[in-house]
Amino acid sequence: MSFSASIITLFPDLFPGTLGASVLGRGLTDGLWSLETVQLRDFATDRHRTVDDTPAGGGAGMVLKPDILASAIDAVSPAADPRPRLLMSPRGKPLTQARARELALGPGAVIVCGRFEGIDQRVIDARDLEEVSIGDYVLAGGEVAAMVLLEAVVRLIPGVLGGADSHAEESFENGLLEYPQYTRPQVFEGRSIPGVLTSGDHARIRKWRQEQSEDLTRQRRPDLLK
Ligand code: ADE
Repeated sequence: MSFSASIITLFPDLFPGTLGASVLGRGLTDGLWSLETVQLRDFATDRHRTVDDTPAGGGAGMVLKPDILASAIDAVSPAADPRPRLLMSPRGKPLTQARARELALGPGAVIVCGRFEGIDQRVIDARDLEEVSIGDYVLAGGEVAAMVLLEAVVRLIPGVLGGADSHAEESFENGLLEYPQYTRPQVFEGRSIPGVLTSGDHARIRKWRQEQSEDLTRQRRPDLLK
């Protein structure tokens, strides 16, 4: 059983987007993972195909109706579906590499892309939606956020990106930012590759990279060291 993603959105044409390119797209056509999009509007019940309404209590913007979204969720993800149900939202818990790794080893995900000012809280509660944020800024909708999440997850699915330990040295995999990388030419615009990297001394190289990772993390992301 491979990783299966179902996306509930008002803009299914945006997918697969970045997920269809390069090695993730190859994984998709090779059946290492699957992607299904569901048009939320297909679950509207009136002749105008309305999916939103004005907020109870007043205020700006519109709110996604709970009954329409619940029908869409139930159609793609019956109660026995083992996949977590995610709701892309700036209010959510921040996405981490650890959560991405967890999801990559699981059965997949049902992802709801919000638009509008918000989603009726009762469907979030009733369908146990896990709110996930990709950062402290507000997008116009959840579609790009869903692509970001899936891009982070799908590249970790076994077989998609290659060797078993090809992720071991990436940023966040050891709680630190990745050390700087170099390749030929030996001198570029007067700048040389650090001598240690061409020394052939693998213990020294490992130690240098660890120090570089720690320095970078201290400078740029001291929050990761806490
Ligand atoms: N939808 C709008 N903004 C978002 C964010 N920062 N993360 C996830 N989904 C969003």
